[in-house]
Amino acid sequence: MTNPSPAVEPQTVYTLTHGARCLLGGNGVAVLLPAKQRLDGLSPRQITLLRTLNSGPLHVNDETDPDTSDLLDRLIDAGVVTMIVSVGARELYSLRPFRRPPTSRPTARPDSFELSRFTVVRRNGTDVVAENPRSWCDVVVHDPEVLATLTGLASTLPAVVRDRLSADLAWSGHAVGAGTEEHDFATRSWSPHELWFHRRSTVGDRGTSWAHFGPTRWADGEFEPLPARRERYDGEPVALPTPDLEALRRDDRPLTAVVEDRKSVRDFDDRHPMSAAQLGELLHRCARTRGVRTTNANRSVPEELPSRPFPSGGSLYELEVYAVVRTADGIAPGMYHYDSFDHMLRPVAPYDDPAVRRLIAPASLTLADGQLPQVLLVLAARPGRIMWTYEQMPYAVILKHVGVLTQTLYLTSTAMGLGGVAQGYGDTAAFAEATGADELVECNVGSFVVGTPRQ
Ligand SMILES: Cc1cc2nc3c(=O)[nH]c(=O)nc-3n(C[C@H](O)[C@H](O)[C@H](O)COP(=O)(O)O)c2cc1C
Repeated sequence: MTNPSPAVEPQTVYTLTHGARCLLGGNGVAVLLPAKQRLDGLSPRQITLLRTLNSGPLHVNDETDPDTSDLLDRLIDAGVVTMIVSVGARELYSLRPFRRPPTSRPTARPDSFELSRFTVVRRNGTDVVAENPRSWCDVVVHDPEVLATLTGLASTLPAVVRDRLSADLAWSGHAVGAGTEEHDFATRSWSPHELWFHRRSTVGDRGTSWAHFGPTRWADGEFEPLPARRERYDGEPVALPTPDLEALRRDDRPLTAVVEDRKSVRDFDDRHPMSAAQLGELLHRCARTRGVRTTNANRSVPEELPSRPFPSGGSLYELEVYAVVRTADGIAPGMYHYDSFDHMLRPVAPYDDPAVRRLIAPASLTLADGQLPQVLLVLAARPGRIMWTYEQMPYAVILKHVGVLTQTLYLTSTAMGLGGVAQGYGDTAAFAEATGADELVECNVGSFVVGTPRQ
């Protein structure tokens, strides 16, 4: 004989979300903070419930009581309560809102559903959290059985609890109708990592407070800022010729002509490769460091804000340029780092290094007749330069900087009679291998082919 099973009916306990509070006024009025939303017509029983909620968790004995259910509906609708679902003393999961739910909480589970492919489960502090960029709440997992059920791997949870969980997952958008995300073009076309990146690097439901978004300088006091100048590569540098900027100001092609004539060039003339003077001019006009301003000079490691010809968020200038030279008059083939401070090329790796070969190989898919670039400019970032200051959005800003520098390279190449084409992808592993850099410290974020165009 087995013992009769203990009570398995799931219960919901309500707590105010982090930062939320009810200000209780007279005449059945309360104001929900921080949204300053007014609740009126509250009964004395509802005021008592709000008072309980202000001081801690609200255990509801009878959810069918009209006063209670009306108040809960209004609080859930306002997105100010976290719902903790438990069975007896066993906490299973919480729904933690960051905006209002679109509908009221369903009681029945949907007929056909599956975990959304946009849901990501990760550790956040001491919580294990399921997050979905299309949801209005996070699901905080308190019990491993919930995790197994959520992922569809297995479940020993009683059916009544599984039904409650399924109904909540569907309500929150963490579960969707089976196959719907594959059949709908909009959901199918977004990869999970791209939607995540878009949502989390922009202002929105999670970024409204600005407390941990944007230029918060979160690392100040805990970590030293990174110097503006990248550590030098050893080896004999190649000094680059410097253009006469005064003459260029006077005689260069007009801006409108350059903008109107700019086009992508994919066919190059190897019988007349570009010269060291041209590469020097291009890099000098687009990417040199014109100077460095120092702020907070009295601290042990000052903050350095360089200036270059292209704009950069916070004047932090995290981008570095590498030149992979296959053929250029006056420069031996090889991979070089452009030292934007000294206007020099510093050798990084030989041209026949397998990683360097891999780095330039994808460009031949783009160029006419499978040509290899005369020069491939590899754009890299030292993310720590910008991540010291910015939260949540710095990688998105880095990619914007790649666009800014790419257009500067396009226009200057055009003005100089060179040809160039941006590359939408790069072999980040080959870059890491060729430079020996830890990807978190410096990584490949863009590339640009340049050379003498075939006439
Ligand atoms: C960020 C970016 C990435 C690009 N990636 C590639 C690429 O990988 N291969 C290629 O052939 N062209 C690439 N291009 C060039 C575009 O195909 C080109 O700009 C577009 O066809 C318009 O032609 P136009 O530049 O001649 O005006 C890229 C352009 C940009 C701005």
